[in-house]
Amino acid sequence: MIDLALEEKLDDLDPLRHLRDDLDLDSDPKTTRTSDGLVPAQIPSILNQRIELAFPRGPEDGDILIKLVVDASPGCGGIAWPAGEVLSRYISRHGSLEGQTVLELGSGTGLVGLVAGKLGAEVWITDQAPLLSIMRRNVAMNDLSAHVHVAELNWGSPLPPDIHRPSVILAADCVYFEPAFPLLVHTLAELVPRPSDSDAASDRPEVLFCYKKRRKADKRFFTLLKREFTWTEVTDDPDREVYAREAISLLRLTRKR
Ligand SMILES: C[S@@+](CC[C@H](N)C(=O)[O-])C[C@H]1O[C@@H](n2cnc3c(N)ncnc32)[C@H](O)[C@@H]1O
Repeated sequence: MIDLALEEKLDDLDPLRHLRDDLDLDSDPKTTRTSDGLVPAQIPSILNQRIELAFPRGPEDGDILIKLVVDASPGCGGIAWPAGEVLSRYISRHGSLEGQTVLELGSGTGLVGLVAGKLGAEVWITDQAPLLSIMRRNVAMNDLSAHVHVAELNWGSPLPPDIHRPSVILAADCVYFEPAFPLLVHTLAELVPRPSDSDAASDRPEVLFCYKKRRKADKRFFTLLKREFTWTEVTDDPDREVYAREAISLLRLTRKR
């Protein structure tokens, strides 16, 4: 007999489950017959879950604790991505951001920007419209509403006028969708003007770009980036060896003249 209440609950949690082409994972892959499903097997959706993440600071300070709502329904940015955690850990170890204005691109849940807010910066976390509500929830949940601002910023579009010129730009796990590559490079270039001879190095924004290599096509992003920026790997991160094994690198970008 079908338990209708249970079926409805399962549908809420995983609306695509009847369309899925689930494989029988216990049987021999050569002989496994798939059902008549239309979509491939997937891990269960993450819906409105709360997690807590800790990021170590210097030896004398306690960890930074971030409470995070994660929810994949507004888009892939609604969950915490590996490069975001790497960048959060790096900035947290590097101490105070007091007096800095930070802008994060493609913030998703807002994780990296929230850590920057806990470190004392005035922060703008930005993303596309569907992510703004989860970002606002996460700002409120971490009591950061006075210093962490949420704004819509679509790469390739003009910068919103209310965003202050940043001294630090952060981006994590933003290289994954090929049509967005030129748009992201355009926005980075708009945020970091070409240096002139009269500029002091301290006037130029610092850009920390954490990237996980997934596909060969990612190379095209770096070909485009190379027209506007040079970069170096951040080497003063004690975790580097560990995340390098997962094809994650943390880069510092410098605008070309
Ligand atoms: C893979 S997620 C990474 C999220 C977050 N930085 C992290 O590390 O957890 C990529 C983010 O980029 C955002 N994004 C993708 N294309 C964008 C665009 N054209 N303009 C602005 N944000 C975009 C997505 O909405 C998503 O939040």
